[in-house]
Amino acid sequence: MANNDSTSKTITVALLLCIVCSVVVSTAAVMLKPAQVANKKLDFNRNILAAAGLLEESKSVDEQFAQIATKWVDLNTGKFTDAVNADSKYDQRKASKDPAQSTELSGKEDLAKISRRENISEVYLVEGANGIETVILPIKGYGLWSTLYGFLALGSDMNTVVGMGFYEHGETPGLGGEVDNPNWKSQWVDKKVYAADGSVALGVVKGKAATGSEHDIDGLSGATLTGRGVDNLIKFWLGENGYADFLANLKKGEA
Ligand SMILES: Cc1cc2nc3c(=O)[nH]c(=O)nc-3n(C[C@H](O)[C@H](O)[C@H](O)COP(=O)(O)O)c2cc1C
Repeated sequence: MANNDSTSKTITVALLLCIVCSVVVSTAAVMLKPAQVANKKLDFNRNILAAAGLLEESKSVDEQFAQIATKWVDLNTGKFTDAVNADSKYDQRKASKDPAQSTELSGKEDLAKISRRENISEVYLVEGANGIETVILPIKGYGLWSTLYGFLALGSDMNTVVGMGFYEHGETPGLGGEVDNPNWKSQWVDKKVYAADGSVALGVVKGKAATGSEHDIDGLSGATLTGRGVDNLIKFWLGENGYADFLANLKKGEA
């Protein structure tokens, strides 16, 4: 039997230890992957419900999400499309980077600093006896350090905000990260998106919003740049290269 202090035995033990550890780590990673994907989806759906003002902590997200209908919109026509459906496993983030599934934005158009805009967007509807009650739209755009991803929910007039929230961003906690502050988010509720001339008036101002303003949201103190990013992404997604045509069609019942 080789001496315990021999070089070959030391190397063998080290190698075996490496192999065992790597097998344990990779098995854990592979086995936990489905749970991670499921949790991400759950969090995504939770944020959709929260934007729509429907989230009840006492009920399961899946149970509450049953009242939401998922549909797909062709942003170039402003109408629903069946080119994509629940079985397509449509990945909107991937689509936004794929030249075959997205449209390049010119510098002037690219308010949200996203370079390309996907042609098809997944949207979420809450339908009641009298038609659509809430439409929840995915929004995204660049802040100071990161792309912010979130949802904006509008009421049946396609103009009144029901809620807004981001589910992913990398802004600084306490500064740009205050976009997650419930007090700040609550200001969005009941604000109107469009001005009388059809332009997007909803947005984040620098400093305090004028009292009684129908469209302005307070700026975030010490985070003017994140606030400007949010303002820009709202202007983009509700404008002509975003959901404006779709919302107009939906209002007329022609989407
Ligand atoms: C470490 C660090 C992190 C910062 N994070 C943010 C941020 O997330 N969002 C933001 O708009 N400004 C952030 N700022 C501040 C900006 O650099 C800039 O000063 C600020 O947006 C200007 O806003 P104000 O006019 O409200 O002061 C950060 C600054 C520092 C030093």
